Amino acid sequence: MKLINTFEPYLGTEEINSVQKVIKSGWLTSGQVTSKFEKKIKEYLKCNNALAVNSCTSGINSALHAFGLKAGDEIITSPFTFVSVINNLYHLKLNIKLVDIDLNTYMFDIAKLKKTITKKTKCIIVTHYAGTPFDMEKVLDISKKNKIFIIEDAATALGAKYKKKYVGDNNYGSITIFSLYANKIITAGEGGIITCKNNKLAKKLRIINSCGIDRDPWLRKKNAMQYQYQVTAPGFKYNFTDIQSAIGIEQLKKIEKIIKYREILKKIYINELKSLIEDGILKLQKINSDQRSALYIFTVLLNKNKTDKNRDDLIKWLKYKNINTSVHYIPAHKHKFYKKYLKILI
Ligand SMILES: Cc1ncc(COP(=O)(O)O)c(C=O)c1O
Repeated sequence: MKLINTFEPYLGTEEINSVQKVIKSGWLTSGQVTSKFEKKIKEYLKCNNALAVNSCTSGINSALHAFGLKAGDEIITSPFTFVSVINNLYHLKLNIKLVDIDLNTYMFDIAKLKKTITKKTKCIIVTHYAGTPFDMEKVLDISKKNKIFIIEDAATALGAKYKKKYVGDNNYGSITIFSLYANKIITAGEGGIITCKNNKLAKKLRIINSCGIDRDPWLRKKNAMQYQYQVTAPGFKYNFTDIQSAIGIEQLKKIEKIIKYREILKKIYINELKSLIEDGILKLQKINSDQRSALYIFTVLLNKNKTDKNRDDLIKWLKYKNINTSVHYIPAHKHKFYKKYLKILI
């Protein structure tokens, strides 16, 4: 029987030809092709600023620095995320508060979030889970009132829409970061995209991403005195390359087709699992009519009260049927290292 993977990238001759062109050009790192990719993302999301970076993890770190977060600052996030996000917070010595998820959406439980916010809260990282946008309006009231910075972790949600607008249009004053990792909606192998509305903030992010240097290599190349640049902040080396951008540009052309294909697959899964869903044995993520999910993964929650089988039994049985699965995610506070540092507060 054919192996069903958890993901497969949609790559073709377009990506191969595009990469070949960049290689032949002799300019491989961040340059004109990266600028073109950023422009295309800006047009797609209808956002003010788009910055390509080498991963979503780096982009989130960059956002934390751009917002000026420092040791001891209180930050709230979801435990149901990829651990690289939590590593960023740990390295910055932030005071991490985890708010439990709602078992319908697998994203923040709003009532619990509201209870967790204090006068000391500096920032909230909202995780859009499984490609589905979080109901941002629920966070906005709180963040505006308390002047809290918002970072949207949209690693899985490129192409997702909330109230007919793309996640990442930043109408909520946040910094949003997407992932272009190999298994994401579209990919460049590795990579990320940061979007934000405020031009000054975008400039700051760009400098942080390029070692704190005030001019990128492509601009410096045009200058007769190429060596003349200044370090204006202690930044990081988070730049994206033209090779990756060449893949990204071709992938972006396919994104709407990819999401539509995922919608077809979702319908097939629901049809095949119909009786288990109707009997309440499996529960699916709740997606409201004003949310368009990019359908990154198809998550099922097993109701332990309705079956004597557990999650790992199901994983093994599916594997036997040649269907690969994954656990998305092992919650942050359940990892060996973080057990002693993190717990869910309420
Ligand atoms: C919610 C979430 N945040 C961040 C990341 C990290 O993305 P990247 O691999 O691009 O750093 C992932 C990766 O799967 C993710 O799922």
